[in-house]
Amino acid sequence: MAAGTRPVVVIAEVLAASCAEYLRDTCEVVEAAGEPRSRLLSLVSDAEGLVVRSGTRVDRELLEAAPRLRVVGRAGVGVDNIDLDEATRRGILVANAPLANSVSAAEHAFGLMLSQARNIARADATIRAGRWDRAAFRGVELDGKVLGLVGLGRIGALVAHRALAFGMSVLAYDPYITADQARQAGGELRDLDSLLAESDFISLHLPRTPETENLLDAVAFSKVKPGVRIVNASRGGIIDEDALAAAIRSGRVAGAALDVFATEPLVGGPLVDLPQVVLTPHLGASTAEAQDKAGLHVAEAVVAGLMGEPVPAAVNRV
Ligand code: NAD
Ligand code: MLT
Repeated sequence: MAAGTRPVVVIAEVLAASCAEYLRDTCEVVEAAGEPRSRLLSLVSDAEGLVVRSGTRVDRELLEAAPRLRVVGRAGVGVDNIDLDEATRRGILVANAPLANSVSAAEHAFGLMLSQARNIARADATIRAGRWDRAAFRGVELDGKVLGLVGLGRIGALVAHRALAFGMSVLAYDPYITADQARQAGGELRDLDSLLAESDFISLHLPRTPETENLLDAVAFSKVKPGVRIVNASRGGIIDEDALAAAIRSGRVAGAALDVFATEPLVGGPLVDLPQVVLTPHLGASTAEAQDKAGLHVAEAVVAGLMGEPVPAAVNRV
């Protein structure tokens, strides 16, 4: 940062106050949450920093509109809304806040699993509709069941810990960790087919990449243990939603609980009409605690990047 100048940082989405408060010590902050895309493209024209959540596409068009941009901060984990190759090619550092929302996301996944297993959302809806349908909602216990985790990183490990406390046993498919790392997290490694065949519940905790797109497709659902329940609070697009709906309609899959979708916001689609499916609008990180931490952590990373200091949370090298 040149002496005497304060770089402009655009905050493109609604973030906790902790983010702007930290940035204002050293930067000019432009709040752009809720602005239409065309306005955002004009606001970034003199920005050196940009902060986003998952709702802003940081693609070639946006990067071209921001010729002075040096750092993009992602207030959360997933960077699949950011064109990392293009940012790197332009020398723009991208950093996320990988530790800020792990506990919240793990708790949400667990809440989804319980809600699906015990029909909590549907039962609530029937009471509000004036009905008292005790007989309609027989659920299943988690105790004694096998939980298969696809992806055993930060959030997967937190889910494993909670599952063990509920009396479940934990399997994991994660080609990038060792059997020893899985054991330390309380799980046993399996290949994907074995995990599909052995699990009563399957919960996804991996990034969306070309390798993971439609990982759970019609072929995968033909290999699951009949009656399995699927949880996804990681990323949309890893499950083929049409194939999941078909597997639920056929009875092969007992139900699903989903926080993330191939296209967000989710409007209609094959899963919405299925009563066995619990849906939340990408709420995994939506807690006061996670958002406070994400706002602060991302602001620290952006300022460090602008000052030319080390950025431990960088996800690319420039
Ligand atoms: P992480 O990087 O700590 O863990 C991801 C794990 O997935 C790693 O262990 C990695 O080895 C594994 N993995 C990668 N490719 C895989 C593959 N092909 N098959 C199986 N495993 C694979 O990330 P995290 O912090 O645990 O986050 C997990 C996911 O949750 C990310 O997609 C993140 O964006 C998402 N997330 C969602 C919310 C939400 O609001 N719903 C909140 C936080 C994080
Ligand atoms: C993440 O990857 O961190 C989540 O999707 C949460 C968010 O976007 O805030």
